[in-house]
Formats: sequence, C-alpha cells, structure tokens
Amino acid sequence: MAAVVNTGSKFLKPQSGVIGIAYVRTNNYSTDDRVYNLASLKRGTGGRSSFNGIVATVFGATGFMGRYVCNRLGKIGSQLILPYRGDNYEPFRLKLVGDLGQVYFHPYHLRDEESIMKCIKYSNVVVNLVGRDWETKNFKFDDVHVEGARRLARLAKKAGVERFIHLSALNASEAPEEAGILKGGSKYLASKARGELAVLEEFPEATIFRPSDVYGQEDRFVRYYAHAWRRQGQYFPLWHKGERTVKQPVAVSDVATGIINAIKDPDTAGQIYQAVGPKRYLLSELVDYFYRIMRKDDEWGYTRYDMRWDPLFQLRVTLTEKLSVNWPIGNLHWEKIEREHLTDDVKPDIPTLEDLGVNLTTVEQQMPWEFKPWTFGIYRGQDPDEPQAPASHPKVFA
Ligand SMILES: NC(=O)c1ccc[n+]([C@@H]2O[C@H](COP(=O)([O-])OP(=O)(O)OC[C@H]3O[C@@H](n4cnc5c(N)ncnc54)[C@H](OP(=O)(O)O)[C@@H]3O)[C@@H](O)[C@H]2O)c1
Repeated sequence: MAAVVNTGSKFLKPQSGVIGIAYVRTNNYSTDDRVYNLASLKRGTGGRSSFNGIVATVFGATGFMGRYVCNRLGKIGSQLILPYRGDNYEPFRLKLVGDLGQVYFHPYHLRDEESIMKCIKYSNVVVNLVGRDWETKNFKFDDVHVEGARRLARLAKKAGVERFIHLSALNASEAPEEAGILKGGSKYLASKARGELAVLEEFPEATIFRPSDVYGQEDRFVRYYAHAWRRQGQYFPLWHKGERTVKQPVAVSDVATGIINAIKDPDTAGQIYQAVGPKRYLLSELVDYFYRIMRKDDEWGYTRYDMRWDPLFQLRVTLTEKLSVNWPIGNLHWEKIEREHLTDDVKPDIPTLEDLGVNLTTVEQQMPWEFKPWTFGIYRGQDPDEPQAPASHPKVFA
C-alpha cells in the first residue's frame, strides 16, 4: 500500500510495494522568483535603521558614483545587494553604508546571466552604474555600455523588478559631435547612445540619467585637471586653449540625490534626465580657476596654451594610451581628450535634476574644498587653512 502526500509537487519516482515516497512541497523557498510584497514589510520612521520597502541591487557600486548612491540608499533604510567582480575586499568598505544586516555582496560577471539573476531576484530596484571611460582587452565599449546594459535590463524585467535606473552620458549620440580630435567623434558617447536604446527596448519604463562631467571625492574631473601628467610642467595644454568649449559640470552628491528622488517617485519611470550643474563655463575659465584655487597662479608660472601645436604632449597621450592600457596614467587618453573638448549640449526639452527637486551645488561652493589637497606647497610648510583671499570666480558663460 502506498501512502502519498502531494501538495502541487511531483513524484520523485514511480513507487510500487508497501512504502511509497512522495516529495512534499509546503512552501516557497529561494528557488522561486518572487516571494514577498516588499512594500508590506516597511518598518520604522525612514532613517538608516528603518526598512523603507526598497531592496536595491546596485551594479557598478565599486565605482566613483556607486559610493554616493549606496550611501544615500542606505541612509533612508534601503536594503542593498552589491554585485562585484574580482577581489572581494574591494566592495567591502561599502558595508558601512547601511544598517547591520542590510548590505549584501554577491560576485557576478557581466556576461554570466545566472550570477546576475542571483543578484536581482529579490530586488524591486536595480541601478546600473556600470561603465568604462576606455576600452580594455576584455571589454570594448559596446560590451559594457550596450550588451551589458541590455542584459541587466532584460534580466531585471524577467525577475519582475519594478524600477530600473540607468546611467548614460550627456552628449550621447549615435553620431556624436566632433571636437576635431578623434575622427568620427567619441566611441564612448556613441556606445552610450546605443546603450540607452538597448535598455529601453528591454525595459521601457527605465529611468535614464545623462550626467555631464561629475566631480567629487575620487572623481575623474578634479583629479584629472590637478594631475601633473595632464600638464607640461607649469604649462597647461587645451585644444584651442579651451576657449571654444563650454562645460556644465555637476556635483556627485546632486546626481546621487537625483537618482534617489527618481527611485522614490514612480512618475519618473520611462523618463530621461540630464544631470548637469547650475552654470555653464568656458573650459578655459574653469581650468584657470582651478589653478587659482591651488595657488598655482601666474606667479607660480601657470600658462594655458593650445594643445594643437604641442606634438610632445600629443605623443605623451598616445604613449600613455598604448603603454598603460588598463589604467591610463592620470586618466589621460584620446577618448578623454575628445570628450573633454566637446561642448555640453543641454537640451531644453529634456528635464534636469532640478525637475527632480535637487537643489544644485555650484562649482564656486564646492571646488575650493575639492582642490585643497593640491594646494601649492601643502607638504612643504604651506598651510592650506591659512587665511588668504579666495580665488576669484570663473566667468559664467551666458
Ligand atoms: N563620472 C563621470 O564623470 C561620468 C559622466 C558621465 C557618465 N558617467 C557614467 O555613469 C556611470 C557611473 O560612473 P562612475 O564615474 O561611477 O564610473 P566608474 O568609477 O568608472 O565605475 C564604473 C563601475 O563599473 C564597473 N565596471 C566597469 N566595467 C565593467 C565590466 N566589464 N564588468 C563589470 N563591471 C564593470 C566597475 O567595476 P570595477 O570596480 O570592478 O572595475 C565600477 O564599479 C558609468 O556608466 C559612467 O559611464 C560617469
């Protein structure tokens, strides 16, 4: 006689004889795609030790913006799943962004769908911060910005994720403007434009951010201009002396606030936002201002000149690109030079961070603090806190 208990499951094996064995499933466990209505688990008053109903997977959390976005998410009581590649010590400092037991790490590979699925199956929000400023042996721009982004969006849709936030770039276009340096313009910007289309094909309600140059601690803007490799001694080369390029840099904390505001507001689904700062400046004005802040002024010998007539500097860029392929010294490579000299094209019909309620930080408020570690003579007795007339502000481009 066979005793059989079956609650919607299947037999392991057809049984005969006295004892029959049945496989009994009484509950849903981790192999199921969706187990909870996360909103029903909200607890607390909205601070770090609350749970606000957001379980967010942040791809690219180990990068510059990742730190800020994760910190903001943790601060409002979100649970975080932080996928990483390579050394597992690399992402662990992010453990502190959230309350105890609220930050989880999981290894993944951008081409491995199974590992990606494991990272997103319990989340209702996915943020894609994965990007690279230069191509490597293993990953070309399209692999990261188009195929990688498409894969994340497709799997997020499949897993039932509610919000997908994707980081693109300002000036992204399939046929980008040319600064006159790289023939055909920036491949990075072209791939970012294709990436937006790929994401929207897979996840039409995705929210896309297009940041201009983002500055903050450990960025690739302040550090790029302060780096000795970017200049020739006291001489600073810029294409056309930087007098034909208009920039609108944005503070990283403002971009992070915009991303959090978008996650919290369901009306932002399917929208594109331009993440730009509040003011526009000529590149030449900005760089002159940065060097005034660092007290590397005319007296120090600061001189800005036209990069077009300096073959030695151009050779340096080429050699840096060829010899330090995976991590160009000082972030110096031709792609960067091309994008650096492209005017920020802010479209009036596309909303910006201000439409997300962000109170924008100005360059004049933030840069004196950002450039402090590069104050001239700081390690040779000069006190950066010694009272001194503040550097005169850059002229705003009308
Ligand atoms: N910072 C800016 O000024 C700026 C401006 C416009 C747009 N954006 C875009 O905004 C996003 C975030 O920028 P960010 O400054 O935070 O970038 P970032 O500092 O370069 O960080 C990029 C992140 O992407 C990951 N990543 C890169 N290639 C990968 C690959 N092949 N597989 C898996 N992970 C990979 C990196 O992981 P590892 O740490 O393991 O390398 C890192 O976590 C990017 O998409 C970027 O293109 C940035």
